[in-house]
Order: sequence, then structure tokens, then C-alpha cells
Amino acid sequence: MANHDNHKKCDIGLIGLGVMGRNFAQNMADHGFSVAGYDRDKEKNQALMTERTEQQDLRVADDFKEFIGLLSRPRSVMMLVPAGDPVDAVIDELLLYLEPGDLIIDSGNSRFTDTNRRIGSIESKGFQYLGMGMSGGESGARRGPSLMPGGTRKGYERIAKILEAAAANVDNDPCVAYLGPGSSGHYVKMVHNGIEYAVMQLISEAYDLMKQGLQMEPEELHGVFDRMNQGELNSYLMEITSDIFLQKDEKTETPLIDVILDEARQKGTGEWTAWDALDLQVPTFNIDIAVMMRDMSAYKTLREKAGHALAGPKPLFEGEKDAILQRIESALYAAVIIAYTQGMALLGQASKRYEYGLDMETVARIWRGGCIIRAALLEKIRSAYQSNPDLENMLLDDQLGRAVVEREKDLRYIVCTGSAAGLPIPGLMVALSYFDALRSRRLPANLIMAQRDYFGAHTYARVDAAGTFHTRWGKQ
Ligand code: 6PG
Repeated sequence: MANHDNHKKCDIGLIGLGVMGRNFAQNMADHGFSVAGYDRDKEKNQALMTERTEQQDLRVADDFKEFIGLLSRPRSVMMLVPAGDPVDAVIDELLLYLEPGDLIIDSGNSRFTDTNRRIGSIESKGFQYLGMGMSGGESGARRGPSLMPGGTRKGYERIAKILEAAAANVDNDPCVAYLGPGSSGHYVKMVHNGIEYAVMQLISEAYDLMKQGLQMEPEELHGVFDRMNQGELNSYLMEITSDIFLQKDEKTETPLIDVILDEARQKGTGEWTAWDALDLQVPTFNIDIAVMMRDMSAYKTLREKAGHALAGPKPLFEGEKDAILQRIESALYAAVIIAYTQGMALLGQASKRYEYGLDMETVARIWRGGCIIRAALLEKIRSAYQSNPDLENMLLDDQLGRAVVEREKDLRYIVCTGSAAGLPIPGLMVALSYFDALRSRRLPANLIMAQRDYFGAHTYARVDAAGTFHTRWGKQ
């Protein structure tokens, strides 16, 4: 497809022209950068050429060699291909054509351990490599995503102008920044997705409380979520939730939400977050439970059977509806703060362990726009880390801690009311338990230590003396 001007080479190349790739290519081109695209699937190449506008300097190549020939030196090649083997396959092919000093950027949702492996071998051959999280879905890619690059700093500097132009913008601040070495970018994106899972679970529980407990219909739910989105819960996820309740199913002409099967799927990033949090021993109750509830939802047939076999209370609330709605809103906000707290705590620990040197304020700053978890709350989180870059736990920030303390009674009330009505609200429950555990100056872990020492002579520490102790318990 010789559709390019041979005299001028392209600023950047993009491999993988699915919807995300085509949108991001057009986004970069809209900002005046020339982009060469390539996909093995010729129809996708063609689609990009059909979609492009006159002003966009977008070209596509028929094969890999032609694609590489379109790029100015040193070359910058971005991949937007599915995580896993496809990334390795593209890298292997790229390395046949690229020269030392060229830059490869992986903008997919790669697992950070894969990025570590790749970056080690690629940098040692003299190439530059960035593992870059990109969030915002199709419209974000087209109009401005949040970008989370990490890896070779020089590589970032080379394409910083392109990324800054293409990223979302909040208060004249682009939602992109160099995050750190190695897999830091993909790690931050992974935790972003963990928080995404946690908040989606919390919002779905609030929906369930209203739908079942208060018998609210989609149109009314739209109004309530829309109103909540005007307040402190203002966020992309609340906004789309409110929209969702208005959507009608073309086939049945009923609200689409009511005909969608209640089995949640997942591609794995939430699970990766939970795994790594376990590995780093950072409690991320809300992320873990969000993954588990997606798993639970998938047992639809079993739930149908158990729903007949196992009796429970009627899921109906007593009391004044508006007052309950207000308490749900307040409880949800507290729980959302607690969910972000866990994600940020995980990032803090990972940064130490993996030597990412993350600046937490920067992370919060680049999440304020473009990404799925963008929310008014992120400005408060940013300012908390600005005041104290070493903040050990977000709830120890005056403003954020106070916000949860002031709503604690509502969260407790909603957890009690929801569980008394037999509604599964584990996200709200564990958010409250995280808060209670965090502020417990004494946990019953002393008993766990006594039990361990009893059955396994694992020893224990004492409150009144240093050292390790063992007791011959009971009648042994
Ligand atoms: C984003 C999203 C994006 C994708 C999720 C969906 O930030 O733009 O997080 O990465 O939609 O990976 O994840 P699940 O399929 O696991 O829900």
C-alpha cells in the first residue's frame, strides 16, 4: 500500500491497528505527528486509511519491512497488541529490523513480570524499552487517555512531546509522566485496574441495595446516580453507571441492564493485582473481594440451585427511602476512599520492593483525567501526597481520614441494613473491616500466635519483653 510520501519519515510507528490502535494513531496524528501504522490484518490497515482525515499524516505499510522503512531514526515503535505471546512475537520480529538506540513501547496491558523479563533482555542489546499502561478505553485512546510509562528514561524523553500531546489534560497538566524504571508503568496500570475492579464492585453493591432493598427501577436509578455524580462521588464510573440505566434494549424495548446476564467476566488484571498484593503482604481487601465476587457471579447455575435450597431474609429495607439513599451515598464514598487507600498502599510498598521510586503525587495526578478510575477524589489524593510524599496510609491524611470518619456511621448502618436484608455486599463490608482493622491498636492476632505456638512451637513475641518465647501449652 504505497500511500506515503517518501521524502518525510514518520515520527512514530504503531503496530496493532485494532480499535484502540487506530484511535490512538489518529489521536497522535491530530496533534500534528506523523504516524506509520501496521497490522497483519490488511482490513485493519485499510480501516485506518478509511477513517483518517485529510489533515492527519497517517500511513500504513503492507509488510513489516516497509513499515520499518517509514520511520525516522532513531525509531520509536509502539505496540498495541494483546498481552502475552503476541507481544513477544512482535518484539522478536521487530528486533530483526531495528537498530540499537531504537525504542520499543508496549502500550498493552502486559503483566509487569513479563515487562521485567522483556526489558532486561532488550535493554542489554542496546535498545530502549517502555512498558506503558494506557487507560481510557476506545474513547480515551481517541480523545486523550491516561498514560503510564515506565522503563528506559531516555526513551521516554524522546517521545514525551507526542505522549503529552495525546494524553488527557486536566488543568493544563497532561495525564502522563515518566513513572520510573523497569516495569513501573505496567505495575501502576495493573493497580489502576485493581482499583477499577474494587470501585466497580462497590458501585454494583450500591445498585443492588437500591434495586432490591428499595425496589428502585432503572429510570429512578439513573436519576439517583446522576445526582450522586454531581457531588463528591463525581467520577467516570459513576457517570457511565447513571447512563447505563437509561439504555433501552432494542429487542425487548425494556431497560438493557435488566436483560444482561449477571456473570462478570475478567481478563486478569484484577487477579494479578490481588496476587501481587498477597505476595508483598499488603492488605487489599476490596481488590481481592472484587475479583472473588466476579468469580462467584460466574457460578450462575450453582447460585440458581442454592437460591432455591437455602432460605434467607427478604431483601427489603424498612425506613424512609430518601434517608437510606443518603446513607448509601455517604457509605459508598467512604468505601471508595478506602478502596483507593488500599491501591495506593500497594503501590507504595511495590515501589520500595521493586525500586521503582514512584512519586505518589504524580500517580494520582495522571489518574485525574483520561482513565477509567478518574474521579474528583483523585485531586484530594494528589494533594494529600503533595503535602506528605511519604504518607504511609492515605487515611492518615487529615482531609481523607476525616472524610471516612465522618461517614463511618453511615457505612456501618448500610453494612448492617444490607446484611440484615440478606444482600451480598462484601465490598462495603470489607471496606468497613479494613477501616476497623487499621484503627485497631490491638487485634486478636495474639490468639493466633498462641495457637501457632500451641500446635507447632512456632514461638511468639511478648508485649512486655523483647525476644521470642515458647510455652509448653495445656497438658503437653
Ligand atoms: C482501562 C481498562 C482496560 C480494560 C480492562 C478490562 O484502563 O482502559 O482497565 O484496560 O477495559 O482491562 O478489564 P477486565 O476485562 O478484566 O474487566
